[in-house]
Amino acid sequence: MMNHQYQTAAQVDRFDTILQEVPKPYEQCISYLLEKMPTMFPPVVFATNPIVLHLNQFSTDALKYLIYDYAHFTTQALHMFFEARVRSYWPKLVEEIDRNLAEELGSKSHGISHLELLRLGHRLDLGLNVDGVSASALTRGFVEEMHSLFRCNDNAYLAGILLAFEAVALDEFRVVSKILRRYAELTGRSWVTGSLTSLYVEGHVGPETGVQSDYEGEAGHYLGLRDAIKGEITVENISRFIQGFLALSLKMAIWWERLAVAARLVEIEGILTPEPVEIPEIVQRVHRAAMAQTSS
Ligand SMILES: [Fe+2]
Ligand SMILES: [Fe+2]
Repeated sequence: MMNHQYQTAAQVDRFDTILQEVPKPYEQCISYLLEKMPTMFPPVVFATNPIVLHLNQFSTDALKYLIYDYAHFTTQALHMFFEARVRSYWPKLVEEIDRNLAEELGSKSHGISHLELLRLGHRLDLGLNVDGVSASALTRGFVEEMHSLFRCNDNAYLAGILLAFEAVALDEFRVVSKILRRYAELTGRSWVTGSLTSLYVEGHVGPETGVQSDYEGEAGHYLGLRDAIKGEITVENISRFIQGFLALSLKMAIWWERLAVAARLVEIEGILTPEPVEIPEIVQRVHRAAMAQTSS
């Protein structure tokens, strides 16, 4: 896992080359960026995500750590979208963000917002109160960085950030689905179709099995956004668009890697923590003397 992290960070050296060699017509530019994703940012791709690769090595506590941290991130992601919305001026982009936010607020999920589905679902289906636990310092720091990334009124850069965010979302929810299912399995719970948690997951990625043809979710967000941006990207602003895309992808990839390591540390720290030592004789004597004095 650590090795992956180094490899992803090293991709920064390739950014200049990418900016030069990427084809500049919008559609080809996006295809090129998506094509590069698995080699440049393996953790954002489902099959090479470090948690998916090592899923069976995560204990119940480590999975709980991941679930709490992801809940914090995704809660904040809604606010990141609002940050982007207030800084958007391109009419179609504004429209697309509004459509996306309406979905977040429950337009396709019985009027229940996605975050309520997640929080209440985790409580009812998994016995986890993600509302009451704060995320790790690692994820809080990452969220801060993400907020600053989204607080940008250069719409080309912002469009790159948003498109990358949607481009990685489908795989992200597939990773989350794996984590939640594994946690349910290890704690003796069954995954119930139609439960709040399954609605939350399937609302984003579609059912794991079965017909998916009328399904939109994250894939729909990506396509909607791709088309909404299309008419605004020009030879003047395409480099900033690409920079935004790369910046977001890099941050997400490095977070996944660090998160995977941090969750494993939950157990490793448990193994490395020494047993509490016997209280040394001299300390016990001082204590006994003090006690004897108070009782006399
Ligand atoms: Fe959502
Ligand atoms: Fe989305």
